[in-house]
Amino acid sequence: MCGIVAYIGPKDAAPLLLEGLQRLEYRGYDSAGIAVCGRTGGLRLRKVKGRVADLAEAVPARFKGTAGIGHTRWATHGVPSDANAHPHLDAAQRIAVVHNGIIENADELRARLAADGTAFASETDSEVLAHLVAAHAGEGVALEDAVRQALAHVVGTYGVAVLDSAQPDRVVVARNGSPIVLGIGEKEMFAASDVAALVRYTRQVVHLDDGELAVVRADGFRTFTEDARATAKEPSTVDWEVGSYDTGGHEHFLAKEIHEQPDAVERTLRGRLDDRFHTAHLGGLNLDARELRAIRRVKILGCGSAYYAGEAGAQLIEELARVPAHAEPASEFRYRNPVIEADTLYVAVSQSGETYDTLAAVQEVRRKGGRVLGVVNTVGSAIARACDGGIYLHAGPEVSVASTKAFTCTAVAFALLALHLGRIRDLSPADGRRICAGLKALPDRIREILAQEERIAQLAAAYAKHDGMMFVGRVRGWPVAREGAQKLKEVSYVHAEAYPASELKHGPLALIGPGLPTVAVVPDDELLDKNLTTLGEIRARGGRVLTVGHRAPDARLADDSLVVPRSEPELDPLLLGIPLQLLAYHAAVALGRDVDRPRNLAKSVTVE
Ligand code: G6P
Repeated sequence: MCGIVAYIGPKDAAPLLLEGLQRLEYRGYDSAGIAVCGRTGGLRLRKVKGRVADLAEAVPARFKGTAGIGHTRWATHGVPSDANAHPHLDAAQRIAVVHNGIIENADELRARLAADGTAFASETDSEVLAHLVAAHAGEGVALEDAVRQALAHVVGTYGVAVLDSAQPDRVVVARNGSPIVLGIGEKEMFAASDVAALVRYTRQVVHLDDGELAVVRADGFRTFTEDARATAKEPSTVDWEVGSYDTGGHEHFLAKEIHEQPDAVERTLRGRLDDRFHTAHLGGLNLDARELRAIRRVKILGCGSAYYAGEAGAQLIEELARVPAHAEPASEFRYRNPVIEADTLYVAVSQSGETYDTLAAVQEVRRKGGRVLGVVNTVGSAIARACDGGIYLHAGPEVSVASTKAFTCTAVAFALLALHLGRIRDLSPADGRRICAGLKALPDRIREILAQEERIAQLAAAYAKHDGMMFVGRVRGWPVAREGAQKLKEVSYVHAEAYPASELKHGPLALIGPGLPTVAVVPDDELLDKNLTTLGEIRARGGRVLTVGHRAPDARLADDSLVVPRSEPELDPLLLGIPLQLLAYHAAVALGRDVDRPRNLAKSVTVE
């Protein structure tokens, strides 16, 4: 949700900033801008409504400067427009600011600045930062001090980068709630919202903590706190490959990430299965067997696909460990003054590790003394750091806004957790062995599903002609149906509704008819007969049916069917969702949608 990037060094900043912004476009893509400054000062600014590609066209060839900042926006305050795009300048056009986050007291600060005669050029909350920094940037005041003093007035979240044409030897960055990572190069430095913007140039990075600032110069950096105390930071090495940020021969990141799932699942499993005791080893839980045995309940929190993956996880935990488990949207959780129990294990799920609502839910649990584990993809992210322990997915970077491999790997991580919890309770060694074998076989099973892509693409093109689709499933199939509907909505804009198949007759059956096809998740489990009855009810009302299951039902019950290989029944949700990802992807392609950047969405939502 908004990406920021900064550069200072011997090279021309503009091409580096534009390249960095392109890598951050998943965070927002309604407008973009850059500001650069030469060694002797003089600020150049370009910002446009639209994509980074539009900005690149608008930047003239002679746009020289060796220090610069850039931004790609996902609008919160003010419509997407040239004026509301970042960077924002102060009245003297000396200071440029890019901001990711929300200034909660922006109205009050705006009124105060306006009363002192400040004229505003945009409707954004962020612009106040430029004027506030300018107000503190008196003669002889270092930019880092002006920024620090300005931020003392601010209530809210921010990742910011500030450029001052009067001090072109530095860029100042600060973090509170929105990520900032520094990249250390050879006589050059970078800063960005995410390592994605840096890995092309350096692997040495430093993650700022909340409440930390850094002054960044070509030859190094210095970090300090809001009250000007120096902090010591050790650089770490990023191990994600540059290629992770390319489409790798696929037309879209979404296609690439769907196809990466066999390898991603292998990485989630790597080193974690124990063939001796038929259990899972999870080194990062920070809970011993005795503490884990004392857990009476599991509460899983996440947003969007992370929440649906959590629903699949809750089911795995109940089935394998017989511990009551429940998933809830993290965005709702803290507003109902939740009861936090000492013997409940809280689990926060997040691909990005940045989602504000999920982070706030973690903070609420911890504030009340609860213990939280994170199931997170991004190492060192805010949510990972806010938790007491957890499981990293190791799925590799997920760039496309719609989550696919992170959903599957999250469900796999929950299967590992459920196995671990189960084997220190009543799950038998034989069942443990069975689940271990099922997990090991997943990558090959996923490959078999992906091999059906051509047929799924044909079906997607046919089904995408409808204005809407119903998704149904029961118990293990229910989170799969919800995530299937979510994928279709997100990337194709076809209306999709998910319902437990058992609930159809209590209302939504009224919608069923030739105009509204149903995608039914019907694994070969103990509910198959009941599911087939539902299909009969749909067909009797003229509704078209596409099933996803372990065999094709009788032609009287389904028009089309997708067959997935069998796994252990508890692991069914991990495979049944994959054809639905391909269905959504190809529906979006058939409809000519902007697959990786669906309208109105952003990948990591760092605002409430
Ligand atoms: C956004 C994205 C979704 C994602 C959700 C949670 O809404 O558009 O695709 O599932 O955030 O993201 P997280 O990074 O916390 O898993």
